[in-house]
Amino acid sequence: MKNTRLGLSLFTTALLALASSATLAQGAKLKVGLMLPYTGTFAALGTAIENGFRLYVAEQGGKLGGREVEFVKVDDESDPSKATDNVNKLVKRDNVDVLVGTVHSGVAMAMAKVAKDSGTLLIVPNAGADAVTGAMCGPNIFRSSFSNWQPGYAMGEVVAKKGHKKVVTITWKYAAGDESVRGFKEAFEKGGGQVVKELNLPFPGVEFQALLTDIASTRPDAVYTFFAGGGAVKFVKDYAAAGLKKNIPLYGAGFLTDGTLEAQGADADGLLTTLHYADSLGTPRDSAFRLAYAKSYKLQPDVYAVQGYDAAQILGIGLTAVKGDVGKKAEFAAAVQRARIDSPRGPFMLSKAHNPVQDIYLRQVVGKENKVVGVASKALTDPARGCRM
Ligand code: BEZ
Repeated sequence: MKNTRLGLSLFTTALLALASSATLAQGAKLKVGLMLPYTGTFAALGTAIENGFRLYVAEQGGKLGGREVEFVKVDDESDPSKATDNVNKLVKRDNVDVLVGTVHSGVAMAMAKVAKDSGTLLIVPNAGADAVTGAMCGPNIFRSSFSNWQPGYAMGEVVAKKGHKKVVTITWKYAAGDESVRGFKEAFEKGGGQVVKELNLPFPGVEFQALLTDIASTRPDAVYTFFAGGGAVKFVKDYAAAGLKKNIPLYGAGFLTDGTLEAQGADADGLLTTLHYADSLGTPRDSAFRLAYAKSYKLQPDVYAVQGYDAAQILGIGLTAVKGDVGKKAEFAAAVQRARIDSPRGPFMLSKAHNPVQDIYLRQVVGKENKVVGVASKALTDPARGCRM
């Protein structure tokens, strides 16, 4: 009985390998399932990621690992309650070769679960959910962006070094907000500070008024925040309108001011944030990327565009090593693990858990740019808590 089963499974594996090499020999296109938000508070982030991804593919003549790329797109609406159905559509109905997504941490965790169960390759081009490269990590799951812990932790060190003692945090109540604050608190309290109040509101709410009144009456030395996209625009404007900006310094994970400065105007001026990208790096690599992006889209790139571009680079590196055969997962992973990714943010490698090990910049808003002030944390590695790989 045991031998029959073993024989059958060897036979199935051999059939699958034959089928996959036949598909490759016929020059089948590579189906990339893009699951991103195209509506809602993160809509602009989804578009920038897709733009960046397409730019890299175009630079490679429309092919990765020798295969022409085609896209199947789903708008995930940053809605975790629809996430499992959405990702299953891509995997089971559309039979995509690789999943690329998404922005929202809650949606990304549903994607990671499906990727783990089905063995489909997943590249996360934004969502920082610590679990994706922590407890849910897997040999077929990669991230081109950051963990929520990383920018939070770096800012905790910065704010402690500035001598602030009492801080209030404010964010959306979901994985990204919670984990960003946790990272901040870990470093800030290690540096001698104290988080005296943790304020939050449900995602994607923007009714900040009562919380701003609470900050005014608590009178902390500083405020740390995680907001992004449309919510970040409104928060920065409301913080200034409430008269808090001139009295209580506001610090944030860099999403607070990335891709948002046109809309925030002078209310964002001078804000300090931490992130793995900035507008003024001035390296030949980044300048070439920014020029190509601006030419293609008539827009300035932001961190989301960089992460989309690097997701395509990671896919290209893995696919080149396996000559386009996504079935060769171990060889794909080994090639990506060895690679030094030539990112516009600066070169980086992936950790064992497949999260970028990267410099986190301290940036300051000057006009319409997030200018580099310095490196807040050099080659910062996410602790990958709970990852067994
Ligand atoms: C997140 O949900 O992980 C996230 C969303 C927007 C910006 C950064 C992180």
